[in-house]
Amino acid sequence: MRFIDTSIGKKVIMAVTGIALVKFLFIHLIGNSTIFLGPEGINAYAKGLHSLPPIVWGFRLIMLLIFGIHIYFAVQLTLDNKKAKPIGYSVDKNLAATFSGKTMIWTGLIILGFVIYHLLHFTLQITSPYFIASSHPDNFGRPDVFKMVILSFQKISIALIYALSITALALHLSHGVQSIFQTLGLNGDYLMPKIKALGLALALILSIGYLSIPAAIQLGIISL
Ligand code: HEM
Repeated sequence: MRFIDTSIGKKVIMAVTGIALVKFLFIHLIGNSTIFLGPEGINAYAKGLHSLPPIVWGFRLIMLLIFGIHIYFAVQLTLDNKKAKPIGYSVDKNLAATFSGKTMIWTGLIILGFVIYHLLHFTLQITSPYFIASSHPDNFGRPDVFKMVILSFQKISIALIYALSITALALHLSHGVQSIFQTLGLNGDYLMPKIKALGLALALILSIGYLSIPAAIQLGIISL
C-alpha cells in the first residue's frame, strides 16, 4: 500500500497543504490591510502585485492546486471515516474527534462556496458588474480596487456573506491547527492545551483581521 493511501499519509498531506493555505491567509490579510491606508495603500499594492503576470499566475496555479489537493483528501478521509465507523455502539468513545470531523467538512464546504463566490466577486468581478476596478482608474491610472471594495462592503448583504464565511473559516482553523499537530504526533497531555490555545489564537487573529475590513466599511471608518 502506498503512503498516500494510508490514513496517516492522507492526514500528512492535509496538514502540509493546510499549513500552505494558512500562510496564504496571512499574506492575503497583510495585503488587504493596506485598505486602511486609503486608495494610496491598496491600489498601489494591487498594481505592484499585477506588475509581474507570470509570477501572479504561477502563484495562483500553485495555490489552486494546493487548495484542490486539500479538498480531495478531506473528502477521501471523510468517506474513509464513514466506512470505518462502527455501527451499534451506544457510547462513541471518539465523540470529540467525530464531532470535530463533521464540523470540519461542513465549515470546509462553506469556505469552498465562499472562495468560489469571492473569486467571482473580486478577481473576476462578475457579481458586481456596476463597478469593474480596471475600467475605473484612480488619479494615478491604477485600477480603483479601493473603491471596488468600499462599494461592495457598503452593501449589508455582501458584508454579512463575508462575516458568516469568515466565522466558518475561524471554526475550521481552530480545529484544523490542532489536527496538524496531532498528525505530527504532538498531542501529549502537556502539549494539548497549548496546541488548542494556539489554534484558537491563529483563528482569532485571522478572522478578526478579515472581519475588520467589512466592519470598518459598514461603520463608516473607511469610506470614499
Ligand atoms: C475582507 C476580506 C477580504 C478582502 C477585502 C479580500 C480581497 C481580495 C481581492 C481584492 C482580491 C483580488 C485580487 C486580484 O485580483 O489580484 C482577492 C483575491 C483572492 N482572495 Fe480575498 N479578500 C478577503 C478575504 C479572503 C478570504 C477569507 C479568503 C480565503 C478563505 C480569500 C481568498 C482569496 C483568493 C484565493 C483570491 C484569489 C487570488 C488571486 O486573485 O490572486 N480572500 N481577495
